[in-house]
Amino acid sequence: MESDRTVLVTGAASGIGRAVAERLAREEMTVVVADVNYDGAENVARDLRQAGGRGEAILLDVTDSDSVAEAIATVHRRLGPVTDLVNNAGIGVPGTVLATSPEEFMRVMTVNVLGTFMMTQHVLPDMVRRGAGTIVNVGSVAGMVGIRNRAAYSASKGAVLALTRSVHADFHRHGIRINAVVPGTIETPWIARITAGEPDPAVARQDMAARQPIGRMGTAEEVAESVWFLLGPTSSFVYGSFLIVDGGLTAL
Ligand SMILES: NC(=O)c1ccc[n+]([C@@H]2O[C@H](COP(=O)([O-])OP(=O)(O)OC[C@H]3O[C@@H](n4cnc5c(N)ncnc54)[C@H](O)[C@@H]3O)[C@@H](O)[C@H]2O)c1
Repeated sequence: MESDRTVLVTGAASGIGRAVAERLAREEMTVVVADVNYDGAENVARDLRQAGGRGEAILLDVTDSDSVAEAIATVHRRLGPVTDLVNNAGIGVPGTVLATSPEEFMRVMTVNVLGTFMMTQHVLPDMVRRGAGTIVNVGSVAGMVGIRNRAAYSASKGAVLALTRSVHADFHRHGIRINAVVPGTIETPWIARITAGEPDPAVARQDMAARQPIGRMGTAEEVAESVWFLLGPTSSFVYGSFLIVDGGLTAL
């Protein structure tokens, strides 16, 4: 039964994280909507409850170890152990290696890689004690193939995918099942922000859609379905794996 599972979704106030929270709430999981944007997290949690699900907002900055520890402790106190984790919080900075400062590089690495690392570090002890736990990391096609103008972001997502396999190697014997979902270009507020900053936003949108051989961006809901598959009972033989959800981008 999924109703005895408590899943923490990072970056769940917006975009893919929000869609994942909604999808998992429909499976009767208790969903901890964790985000550095607390008001946004509260809105999502309220929507989950209004739709008949169980949602709790929590303030979380994945880059701050005190915030991570406090968030996990608060969930434990209020709801019991985190049984499942979705490491979704992420940021991107456009730029080639030449156009990205070391500070920008470190900012992206800190949220995307260190954040995923610390969240995993803080939920694993309880999972190991219980001999069970499921984790899904949100990677990106930028971590698998060359995407122009995304040097720091690509490096960070490559690291997230490598970390996924490393955690699998160390903890599968403790009952931990970790996988990654690898989205292509997904229509979220993030993409709206990127295209709005381009000289011609409409053309930028078309270019982003055309990256996918099928000629459109994915939806956050399409990614959420794959996250649910990786967390759910029907993927019980899927370990340390990457599920690519990219409209065929990496296949060509
Ligand atoms: N949209 C895409 O095309 C796309 C493609 C591949 C992968 N992804 C990945 O999907 C994930 C979600 O992206 P999205 O498009 O939904 O973006 P988004 O900007 O809509 O949402 C990201 C969320 O993460 C939160 N966040 C940022 N920094 C945080 C921190 N330090 N601590 C806690 N929360 C923090 C933000 O407040 C926001 O709510 C990211 O990891 C991103 O790399 C997105």
